[in-house]
Amino acid sequence: MIVLGLESSCDETAAAIVSSDRRIRASRVAAQMELHRPFGGVVPELAARAHVERLAPMVEAVLAEAGLALDAVDAVAATAGPGLVGAVMVGLVSGQALAFAAGRPFVPVNHLEAHALSPRLVEPGLGFPYLLLLVSGGHCQLLGVEAVGRYRRLATTIDDAAGEAFDKVAKLLGLGFPGGPAVEQAAREGDPAAVPLPRPLVGSGEPHFSFAGLKTAVLRAVEGGHHRTADLAASFQAAVTDCLIDRTRRALGTFPAARALVAAGGVAANATIRAALGRLAAQHGLPLVVPPPALCTDNAAMVAWAAIERRNAGLADDPDMAARPRWPLDPAAEPVRGAGVKA
Ligand code: KG4
Ligand code: ZN
Repeated sequence: MIVLGLESSCDETAAAIVSSDRRIRASRVAAQMELHRPFGGVVPELAARAHVERLAPMVEAVLAEAGLALDAVDAVAATAGPGLVGAVMVGLVSGQALAFAAGRPFVPVNHLEAHALSPRLVEPGLGFPYLLLLVSGGHCQLLGVEAVGRYRRLATTIDDAAGEAFDKVAKLLGLGFPGGPAVEQAAREGDPAAVPLPRPLVGSGEPHFSFAGLKTAVLRAVEGGHHRTADLAASFQAAVTDCLIDRTRRALGTFPAARALVAAGGVAANATIRAALGRLAAQHGLPLVVPPPALCTDNAAMVAWAAIERRNAGLADDPDMAARPRWPLDPAAEPVRGAGVKA
């Protein structure tokens, strides 16, 4: 099975062709950083317009790179949510039109499910169930991945997502946008113990994450004015890492069936966080699976792969689905106070 996947839920325009033998035939991502940088964050209207301009030529490019005509693909998939609704609509409607033109089925994909299953694209041996730490700009969740289409949310953030905290702190430190890679870079020259910062909810009996207090503490430290930027970045990164590890350790305790610890989403591209997760997994005698950075941040290969997984599992999806700004993976999960959901 060969699937053309499209992704446009936030500020990355992406198209990819993936086959069921786990080969990525072509995969392209156009980031929009230069577009949003002057505003220090993603402007929804600008993102949607850029998707409109970039998606069609990108689809042609991946088909050409894979040496395939449109009607040689077996299905077309696109992210249908969650995300910025105008941005999601561009990829979704394009995908539906391409599928119609090619006379092929259309598969609407949940962006979070695409992140959740992406590790299985690169790790054929990764079986269910596994514990997934999904950490991106819009989400910070721990999920029990029990099967394709069956996810149990074990924890989420009560305020900011981890990537959002990286982005806000980068802005505070004048490091620019997007913040994660900039903070990681600055932290290399810094002392992670230089600035005392809180670790919200670490050791708490409740399962969730919180980063708002940490961000405020960094703001205070910046205002104090006597710390080096590199030390602030390193100390912040260390605090986020401690929070992620503590909460993940707690979740592993409540999910003993887990056969692997898996991380996905843009923040999982962070080398310090990856290393700490590796130590945690080893303590529990579990393998750690993290896709390479290009598959951790938003991309369309994961969307095509999720469609392959769903079709292999015999799951039926509504091809006419409308864009869903909110689309939780675990419909039974209780909303938590203040939880922000971006993309
Ligand atoms: O998964 P993703 O590409 O998009 C969303 O669905 O949100 O994640 C983007 C987020 C941004 O907040 C970005 O700052 C963060 O992931 N990020 C990182 C790193 N690379 C990207 N955070 C920490 N360290 C990194 N190296
Ligand atoms: Zn994402």
